Amino acid sequence: MRLNSKLGGALAVTLGILGDDVSAASFPDGPFTTSGRWIVGKSGSNLNFAGVNWPGHGEAMIPEGLQYQSVASIVSRVKSLGMNAVRLTYATEMVDQVVGSRAGADVALDKALGAALGSENGTAILKRIMENNPGFKAGTTRLQVFDAVAAECAQQGIYVVLDNHVSKAQWCCTPLDGNSWWGDTLFSAANWTRGLSYMANHTKSWPNLLAMSLRNELRQPFTNITLYRSSYNWETWYQHTKDGVAAIRRENPDALVFLSGLESDTTLQPVVRGEVLAPGSARFSVADFPGGSSENKLVLELHSYSNVINQGQANNCTALRAALRDGGFEALLSNSTEGGAGGAVVKNRLPVLLTEFGWAQQDEKEWGSAYATCLRGFIGDTGAGWTVWVLAGSYYTRQGNQDNDEAWGLLNHDWSDWRAPRARVEADLVPLVRDTLAFTKSPEGGGGNGTNPRSAAAFGVQPAGLFGIVAAVSFLAGSWLF
Ligand SMILES: *[C@@H]1O[C@H](CO)[C@@H](O)[C@H](O)[C@H]1NC(C)=O
Ligand SMILES: *[C@@H]1O[C@H](CO)[C@@H](O)[C@H](O)[C@H]1NC(C)=O
Ligand SMILES: *[C@@H]1O[C@H](CO)[C@@H](O)[C@H](O)[C@H]1NC(C)=O
Ligand SMILES: *[C@@H]1O[C@H](CO)[C@@H](O)[C@H](O)[C@H]1NC(C)=O
Ligand SMILES: *[C@@H]1O[C@H](CO)[C@@H](O)[C@H](O)[C@H]1NC(C)=O
Ligand SMILES: *[C@@H]1O[C@H](CO)[C@@H](O)[C@H](O)[C@H]1NC(C)=O
Ligand SMILES: *[C@@H]1O[C@H](CO)[C@@H](O)[C@H](O)[C@H]1NC(C)=O
Repeated sequence: MRLNSKLGGALAVTLGILGDDVSAASFPDGPFTTSGRWIVGKSGSNLNFAGVNWPGHGEAMIPEGLQYQSVASIVSRVKSLGMNAVRLTYATEMVDQVVGSRAGADVALDKALGAALGSENGTAILKRIMENNPGFKAGTTRLQVFDAVAAECAQQGIYVVLDNHVSKAQWCCTPLDGNSWWGDTLFSAANWTRGLSYMANHTKSWPNLLAMSLRNELRQPFTNITLYRSSYNWETWYQHTKDGVAAIRRENPDALVFLSGLESDTTLQPVVRGEVLAPGSARFSVADFPGGSSENKLVLELHSYSNVINQGQANNCTALRAALRDGGFEALLSNSTEGGAGGAVVKNRLPVLLTEFGWAQQDEKEWGSAYATCLRGFIGDTGAGWTVWVLAGSYYTRQGNQDNDEAWGLLNHDWSDWRAPRARVEADLVPLVRDTLAFTKSPEGGGGNGTNPRSAAAFGVQPAGLFGIVAAVSFLAGSWLF
């Protein structure tokens, strides 16, 4: 452990992460498969995940924060919470530049930072990155930095989920940003599959690569209403999802693949329930994917944000839990209580992870809000694995602002300490990590079946279905805050 603050050291001791929580299986215990709701290691042990998102999909296309801290000290901080996973994001544009316009050569840090920040600021930031990370030079490439982040995570026993976050490298995600859906102005399906294959090949040597995700937060392409009307549906989703899985598996058949849903990745309901993928007549089946039904490599991921969901859910835990369950987390519930609205049956029992959620970290009101409290309770009851948004205390540049501060960052502006009140980190975040990672031994569907006293009343039935309209309206009403 290379910790650079007393707090980090104290937390590591508090947690006992160097002893108690380490499972019998030796890290990384890959390759992984799935069995029902669980991800299973080579040794046969179930594995759960608690971690954080580390963005690398911004304009510079370099993992954030390195002008303030070393890769090793950032990873040590993640580890000090007891976390075991980083969801590392990248942009397809990075691969487009490598394989398309630059004939196989990746862009070096000096050029990448110059392009993103201008030559003067790019030079200054590069100097600081190299001071903090003496292994990096002006000619080090972006992918070499991704490799270094993954290698340090491996060193410290942390898994990496490599997430295709956007096509064009920029802040994500609104229905108007051009990155929303296949065929949107900046989202070429062909570039996307090429990018997935390239990254699958590039990262297959990472020993701690757990999974590649297909695409972050698919959403309505409101840049083009014709495209929206003709293709924003589950049938189109299924075709591209199969293509994306095939693109990854061609280069790396071992990695798990995370599938994300519609409406900013808040629902995978027809997938879990095995319903018709409208307007077509096919139903989701693992057997339709390359590798077939015996491979067990598919995992579902969903997101939840209080500013994206129906506000009736943000303040009503019963409603929020029902929406999470109906969106797909019901795949984690036991058959006896799985019924969603109308008593739906789970047909495809796959692992479901909550790969994004979060709130402004320094704000006590947000930590104590009905939404945050409910979500933490839901995670505790279901044992769903998760990665919180976001590690970054600041960005090289975001939405035109250099050195942009991130109120939602677990870390402060210079990535040197926690942003949240220390009591919140110790009383809320660390126990959530510990409980999640300990939640691996329940029987199939055992967790969160609604009989836990904390959730007994909470899995009540509510009418489903208005989400898309609500999301669209809340967007149009300007509530897309980030
Ligand atoms: C696809 O990649 C090529 C480079 O190979 C690039 O020129 C083009 O702009 C990309 N398309 C989109 C929509 O980003
Ligand atoms: C360079 O960085 C400084 C300090 O962060 C900032 O004020 C300035 O706007 C940046 N220059 C450009 C071209 O963005
Ligand atoms: C995979 O990457 C290696 C270099 O790491 C390269 O030599 C090889 O050509 C790549 N394969 C494909 C299919 O691109
Ligand atoms: C909008 O989408 C339709 C359907 O995919 C496509 O034919 C059309 O070219 C798109 N329009 C623009 C301006 O991109
Ligand atoms: C909370 O949501 C549940 C389920 O939708 C509903 O039955 C209940 O009336 C709601 N409570 C309040 C106070 O709105
Ligand atoms: C749940 O019920 C469905 C439908 O009866 C059945 O096909 C499935 O095998 C059951 N799953 C488990 C894990 O018992
Ligand atoms: C619910 O889960 C608990 C804990 O896993 C288990 O003891 C109980 O039998 C389950 N109840 C039902 C109705 O499935």
